[in-house]
Amino acid sequence: MARYDVLIRGATVYDGSGGVPFEADVAIDGERIAAIGSLDGASAALEVDGSSHALAPGFIDVHTHDDFACLQHPDMAFKTRGGVTTCIVGNCGFGAAPHAAALEMIGALAPAAAVPDYAGHAGYLAALEAARPALNVGMLAGHGTLRLAAMGRAARAPEAAELRAMEDALDEALEAGALGLSSGLIYEPGRYAATEELIALARRMRGTGALYASHLRDEAAGLVDAVGEAIAIGEAAGVPVQISHHKAAGRDNWGRVAETLRLIESAQARGLAVHADQYPYTAGSTLLRAVLDNGAFRDDVAPGGIGRVTPDDVVVAAAPGQAGWEGQSIAALAGLLGLAPRAAAEHVVAHAPGATAIIHMMSEDDVQAVLRHPSTMIGSDGIPTLDGRPHPRLYNTFARVLGHYVRDLGVLPLAEAVHRMTGFAAAKFGLVDRGTVRAGAFADLVLFDPATVIDRGTFEAPNRYPAGIVDVFVNGARVVAGGVPTAARPGRVLRRAG
Ligand code: ZN
Ligand code: CU
Repeated sequence: MARYDVLIRGATVYDGSGGVPFEADVAIDGERIAAIGSLDGASAALEVDGSSHALAPGFIDVHTHDDFACLQHPDMAFKTRGGVTTCIVGNCGFGAAPHAAALEMIGALAPAAAVPDYAGHAGYLAALEAARPALNVGMLAGHGTLRLAAMGRAARAPEAAELRAMEDALDEALEAGALGLSSGLIYEPGRYAATEELIALARRMRGTGALYASHLRDEAAGLVDAVGEAIAIGEAAGVPVQISHHKAAGRDNWGRVAETLRLIESAQARGLAVHADQYPYTAGSTLLRAVLDNGAFRDDVAPGGIGRVTPDDVVVAAAPGQAGWEGQSIAALAGLLGLAPRAAAEHVVAHAPGATAIIHMMSEDDVQAVLRHPSTMIGSDGIPTLDGRPHPRLYNTFARVLGHYVRDLGVLPLAEAVHRMTGFAAAKFGLVDRGTVRAGAFADLVLFDPATVIDRGTFEAPNRYPAGIVDVFVNGARVVAGGVPTAARPGRVLRRAG
């Protein structure tokens, strides 16, 4: 009689392929799935009743800013309790190396206190392994960080030696196992890079399987051209492309995702592996400083990559040392401070330089059009300011897709949504034996109740865990049991294969 470490009995298995779900027992031995089927005679050290629940591969959050959070909060409960078993870090140009530049870049997004010293991307991954996070982590190198280290905030093209320094740092990242290169072309200093600079860097990845992910230069009036730029970079360099947090920002631009989805389809038809990720909300979130850099609350300049926003659209999320401002709109703060909106926002940034904001800027129709489209996978884009009022996407992204958009609104079938969160993401990011429920694959699994799974975090009270996520396994070890985190920290660094 077979005996396993773990046996999950009678669950409805969504295997990550998008195919028809089936009822089965799933057995785990060590860190991998040992058997799937009718395992009536078998026993296990831990038996879990999966009946009336769905069992899926653990969710892969392809767009995170958890580079330092994985070191600072290795339990990563804000992700595991939402069913996430793998985070891809290093997005939007904010990468983890070189170290000093990373402290400046990622430290601007979330507090960088207690981040250890390390050398290069290899050193970062070694620090991660020493910290033993509860979930798996894959890394992108960040163009903004590479550029900051090579040439500071210079608003010009790199000189030959500066470009070589960026190329060397990217080569080091790829050697260490980076899954790709990200850019953030609305941010300091990535916004100063011309298309040619990005092509030159992306070319280093040709033939390696690593991808180019981009926070586009413009998600507003220039959205269509900006998607075209990302596709052109991928085609010129010969690398796959990932459009980060696909959206149309600003009321004037709503509806433009119809065009960008068509651009993606035609590039795919030409043979380019181009896809996108999305978080399931009509509000975004970023540095308040970046909102100001975008020309917000001014009539004398055209809005930049975030589009036109009103003082009511922008709400302070985290304001380190100034908690009283958190949750207030710029309109409200302007009244409170007796300042014009732009001056009020500048006042916030002057007193809390790392302040982040939530920006209400998308249309519900666009969110659903992007979610429905087969090119879209799921990425939270959460900014892990656990003490402030982060965007609720940090905790709730996957549960909201499954509960709100799949069950309640019927935007896409459950098996398809699971595929977008698992097998699809694993294939794109080159994660071998992940994102699938199959004998021999790593036992990254989530058991959830499709009837009750739902996001519970709101903009007013974001620090709430979702409901309906029952058990979560990472590499065969249970990190969430009955909705509650265990002490297990079995996560691995996921390096690019080959
Ligand atoms: Zn971004
Ligand atoms: Cu991001």
